[in-house]
Formats: sequence, C-alpha cells, structure tokens
Amino acid sequence: MKIVTAVAPVNIAVIKYWGKRDETLILPINDSISATLSLEHMCAKTSIVCSPDLTETKFWLNGELQPTDSKRFQNCLREIKKLVNPNLEYLSWNLSICSENNFPTAAGLASSAAGYACLVYALAKIYEINGNISSIARMGSGSACRSIFGGWVRWQMGNTTDGSDSLAVQIAPETHWPEMRVLVLVVNDKTKTYSSTSGMKTSVETSTLLKHRAANIVPQRTKEMITAIKNKDYKTFAKLTMQDSNQFHAVCLDTYPPCFYLNDTSRAIIELIHFYNQNKGETKVAYTFDAGPNACLYLLEKDVAEVIAMINYVFPPTSLKSDYFKGDTVPSKKLDEVSLK
Ligand code: PMV
Repeated sequence: MKIVTAVAPVNIAVIKYWGKRDETLILPINDSISATLSLEHMCAKTSIVCSPDLTETKFWLNGELQPTDSKRFQNCLREIKKLVNPNLEYLSWNLSICSENNFPTAAGLASSAAGYACLVYALAKIYEINGNISSIARMGSGSACRSIFGGWVRWQMGNTTDGSDSLAVQIAPETHWPEMRVLVLVVNDKTKTYSSTSGMKTSVETSTLLKHRAANIVPQRTKEMITAIKNKDYKTFAKLTMQDSNQFHAVCLDTYPPCFYLNDTSRAIIELIHFYNQNKGETKVAYTFDAGPNACLYLLEKDVAEVIAMINYVFPPTSLKSDYFKGDTVPSKKLDEVSLK
C-alpha cells in the first residue's frame, strides 16, 4: 500500500483567463498571469491511498463522493499514467482519493485551481513522476496549471493543437515582492450559479469583446504586467489588475445571454476602492474579481491595517461571528485614524 498527502495553494489572476480554444485539452485563447497565495490560510489538501485491496477507485471532495468518470478527472489520471514506468507494480491498483478545501468551494475563489493542482501533484508523487506537471493540472481546470508554481506565474497559451506548449512558467519567485498582501473579501460563500466552464463557453460563442480582448488587449497587457511585477511597480500593477478585472466582467456582460458574477456589494467595493485611492492621492489598493462576487484586494503590507479598518467601517460585521476575520494578525487601527476626507 502507498499513501501520499499533498497541499496546494490558491492563485488569483491579475490578467484573467477567460475562453478556451479547445474544450477537451483546456487550451486558452489568451495568456494569463496570477500570484500564488501562501498555503497558510487557504489551500486544498489531498490524500491518496493506492492499494491492491481497493476494489474500485473512489474520490471524495469535502466529504462527498464524486463521480470518477468525469472527463477532467479521467484526463488527469490518464496523462499522469502515460508518464509512469509501465513496469511499476502498483500502476494497476485502485486509488482512494480524499480532497478538502479549507475555504468556500466553487464560490469563485479558485477552489478548482487549488483542488486540481493538488490532485495532480499527489498523483505525481504516488507514481514517482518528476517534471513540469502544469499541463496535466491544466486538463483538470485551466487555472490549476498556475497553482503548480509559487510566486508570480504566467500561463502561456501556446500555439500547438496538442497543447504541449500551453503551460505555466514562473515569472518571479515568492520571495520577489515580500511586501505584497492579498485581502479576500467573502461577499457570498455559496456555490456560484453559473459555472466558469459554461460561462466562458458562451462568451467564446457570442462575445465580440472577448475576441477583441484576446487579439488586441491581452498580449500587450501581459508584457506590461510582467514588467510591472519585475520592477515592483505597484501603481502600474494595480491599474492593470483593476482594468483587466473590469474588462473580464465587461466580457461577461457582452456574453449572450449575459453572465453576472458581480453583485451590488462587489460594485460597492469597486467604488470604495476608487474613492479611497483618489482620497489618498495615490493608488493604495487594487481589486480583482473572478467568476463570483468575492473581491480579492492586492495591496502592500504597510497599507493593510488602514484598509481593513476602512472595510470594517463600510461593511461592519452583521454578527459577532468569531471567524469574521481570518488570516495574518494585523495591528488594529481605529476608524478615526483612517484618513478619509
Ligand atoms: O480554471 P477555471 O475553469 O476555474 O477558470 C478560471 C477563470 C477565472 O478565475 C475567472 C480567471 C482566472 O484566470 O483564474
């Protein structure tokens, strides 16, 4: 019997992936860039048991049994097995796979990215495979390929039809910009009603803005974002991040029928951030939203305490739930110390 346990991080895109050119291989229509979050507060954890005594392969996610005949699961398993030494005695043994996320699943918080990255990494460990497994993680969930690396990561869309050049590469390691922080504002932790898979399929079929974005906007924006990250140029990084999030949600609106991921609270957060930055006379915070209403704010460590105080003031806790605030300990700032004009 073999047992492996792995953990994998969440990544939050600052240049968004939205749209596939190949649905089966999960090949994107544009490059994307993300930061991988620390494993400390949000991660997926997967344990795999491989044993000759198991009568079938089973997969549990957050305690619920999942179908193992899904195309994505089967694709990941098949591609991993292609790399395994065929003489490995336990290649034919069944697996018992148990995966858990310590944050809301399928709520637009990159749970599938962490989940599939973790599954593929754990499978690679069970079968003793080395090398870049990001293109295999990609076949589980596109954005999962970026969670294979830490730091700042680019998913190169690639050009080949077999997808061999569509993989993630690290732009800069996690040590590169140590002052960078992410605040995740959970607006709604319910499973989203419109999955990113069906949303992006309809966008590819119907949105003319999506085609314009992929052909004319993302290539240049990707270059500018890489330069901003390498130079630790927060102002440019923040502007590009917010513009890209807004354009992605504009594409969702340009999709027919439209897919709405942002809600009134998300829009209030967007307005608040622009108001705050304007009042400060400089860009202090950048927002980005994936396929859900929850906000991810990128900001520098020195500004975290004040921004949290402001968020608490504008969106006060509705109950005294002890888990209202989780994460790194931040020195608390009183509201009157927050200089909002
Ligand atoms: O990998 P998926 O199918 O969960 O799609 C992710 C899409 C976005 O989160 C909206 C953007 C991104 O690049 O992560």
